[in-house]
Parts: sequence; C-alpha cells; structure tokens
Amino acid sequence: MDLKPEVKPITRREFVVSSATMVAAGTLGIEARSVPATASEAANRTPSRVIIDTDPGVDDALALLLAMRSPELSIEAITVVAGNVPLELGLPNALRMAEISRRMEIPVAAGATAPLVRRLVTATYAHGENGLGGAVFPDPTLKPVAEPAADLIQGIVRKYPDEVTLLTIGPLTNIATALHADPELAGKVRSLVMMGGSLSGGNITPAAEFNVYVDPEAARIVFQSGIPLTMVGLDVTRKTTLTDDHVRVLEAAPDPVSQAAAKIARKAIEHNRERGFIVGPNMHDSLAVAGFLDPSLLTLREYYVDVETAGELTAGETVGYSPSAGDLRRRPDGEREAALTMPIRGSAPTLAGTRTSPVLRDKFVPNTKVAVEVNSNRFFERLIGRLSGKA
Ligand code: BDR
Ligand code: CA
Repeated sequence: MDLKPEVKPITRREFVVSSATMVAAGTLGIEARSVPATASEAANRTPSRVIIDTDPGVDDALALLLAMRSPELSIEAITVVAGNVPLELGLPNALRMAEISRRMEIPVAAGATAPLVRRLVTATYAHGENGLGGAVFPDPTLKPVAEPAADLIQGIVRKYPDEVTLLTIGPLTNIATALHADPELAGKVRSLVMMGGSLSGGNITPAAEFNVYVDPEAARIVFQSGIPLTMVGLDVTRKTTLTDDHVRVLEAAPDPVSQAAAKIARKAIEHNRERGFIVGPNMHDSLAVAGFLDPSLLTLREYYVDVETAGELTAGETVGYSPSAGDLRRRPDGEREAALTMPIRGSAPTLAGTRTSPVLRDKFVPNTKVAVEVNSNRFFERLIGRLSGKA
C-alpha cells in the first residue's frame, strides 16, 4: 500500500510513474504493490498523517479504536458522514470513540447529512438503531469542532501537501465535497485508502457495496480524481468475520478500549444472530485501517475502477477493468500490448446514440490498487491484539 519504508512520503508523481512502469514492464499479472513493507518496517516509521472519514457504525467504531491506539498514525482529524446511521447519531458515536481512547486532542468534525444527489439510505439493519449494535455508552462530553468536515479536510491537506492519506470507511460524500470545492486539492492528497466497493458482488444489492451504493456520484468523483487510490472492498473484507473467541479475548483484557470494543462486538454478534444472518459481522473498516498499518496483510492488483451511477439495478457497482483479469487476460508477454491497446469501453450504444461503444479511455491506465487477497488470521491478530492492548 502507500506506506513507505523511508520517512519521505511517496508523491503523486512517483505513484503515477510507478504504475506506468508496471504497465510498461508487463507486470500487471503479478501481485502489484507500490510498497512491499512489513509490519516491523511500518512500526519504525515516522507516523503517517491521516484523516479518517467515517459513519460509525459498528465496524467503524472498532476501526476508530484501532486507529487511535496505533502509534504509526498521526490522526489529523476524524470527519463524520451520514451513512450507516444519520449524522446526528454517527457524530456522537465518533466523539464517544475519541473519548474512550483518551484522544480528545483529535478534531472531530460534522460532515454531510445526505449524499450529493440522493436520499440517504442507512444500514441500521446491520448496525442497530444507534449504530453501535445497540451497545449503549454515555453521551460524549467532547464537542465537534465548528469547521465543517469538507473545510477541515481542505485545510489539513493544504497545510501538509503530499503528506495526508485519507482513510475513508464510509460513503465518500465529504471527500467529494472537498474535492469539488477545491479543484487543486486532489493533487495535494498523498493517497486515499477506502473501505468500499467490490469486484465480486455487493452486500446491499447484488451489484453494490454499501458505501458506494449510498453515494455513487461521490464515489465516482473520487475514483476519477487522480488521487492514488487503494480499494479495500468486499473481495477481502467479507473474509473478516468476528467470532465469539475474538470477543472473549477483548472481554478478558482490563483495558477501557478493549472493554468498549468487546461491548460493541458482543452486541453486534447478538444483533446479527437475532436477525438470522449467517455471515458477519465483518470487520470491513478495521481491515482498511489495518491494511494501511501493515500492507503485508493484503495482496493488491492494479485496476482501472469506475462507478456505475446510472444503472437502475446496479448504481453503486464498482467496475474494475484490467487487461490481465477475467476473460481478457493475456499471456504475460502480451500484457503490455494489451494494456496499451485495451480501451475502457462503456455500455453498448443505444439506437439514439452513437454507432460505436463509448470509449471512456483509449487505453488501460490503472487508477486503483485493489485488494484481492487478505491474510485474515494475521489481520485478527493485529486487530484483537491492538484493541486488547497486547500488540
Ligand atoms: C461498509 O458499509 C458499512 O455498513 C460498514 O461500516 C462498512 O464501511 C461495508 O459495506
Ligand atoms: Ca463504515
């Protein structure tokens, strides 16, 4: 992922050059990592500046707790967006997590109350009415900062150009709003690591993953922004089911963060069982954070990813193009040629439209590193170890 062994952060130019080099070298079929870092390398680095954009949310809450006790991160802000629950519930949940973690110095900002152009769809079926699976915590005493999330994001990115990674674990409304308001902003973001999307089917519709489904227009802005992107989607996050054993370890640790995580996790498992779900709860958002902390947890491959926004059945689907995936894959010696000649093709033309398929890009150029494999055991060692104060 984008964490560098050196202190010097990778710049946009370096990302683009490295991606182009991979294409030119015909290495697309091979595991594509911008940085093959290990956990110990990551631990020795200067903390990475991040902004966490979130809609807490059970797995958001655990991801926030994980992030806030990770010394590898310098959390410049937590920005909240409507998603799993309306903003008026998600915002206090984020404040609660900051308080439980004793990280009251981190600015927490309110963001969008609704997607860019759609009505809000929530996921209380999965996260409970209060977003925390029904786990109840006192009202936070911590207050949000006055600045709206999108303004805060702009200010921080402008203050630290090429240094800030956006860790997004909710719908992308706040990020798209910031990018829209400040056209130069994308060029100053170091990278964006998202929990969102899927190349293997959705979880709220057969096509769409929840975060992209809620605000596909915002997601499309982000995918087309030019920011170096890493997509940690359902392809890997559906392999992160929390179990009773995990919760028992959290419950046994006499630590406020572990106890809070255990309380949320226990409720989330009960909530899932009561509703008859066979799978989950999955720790989608924690995997995005953990994958940023320890890139060796994930296998990444380069794709050109775009978002379906018009589909009557498929809006929010993330569509991944690659000359070395699916039926289009080539022999290794043919990948380079394929990449240079493969157009990014849209839907077949209608009778009213042009005679040929619209070509969105005339050749394949990746815009996203997509996580395609995860080491789930090591992920849980890290998540549960950190939350329980043992790692
Ligand atoms: C994503 O949707 C939300 O329900 C979770 O918090 C996660 O961010 C998974 O599809
Ligand atoms: Ca989330």
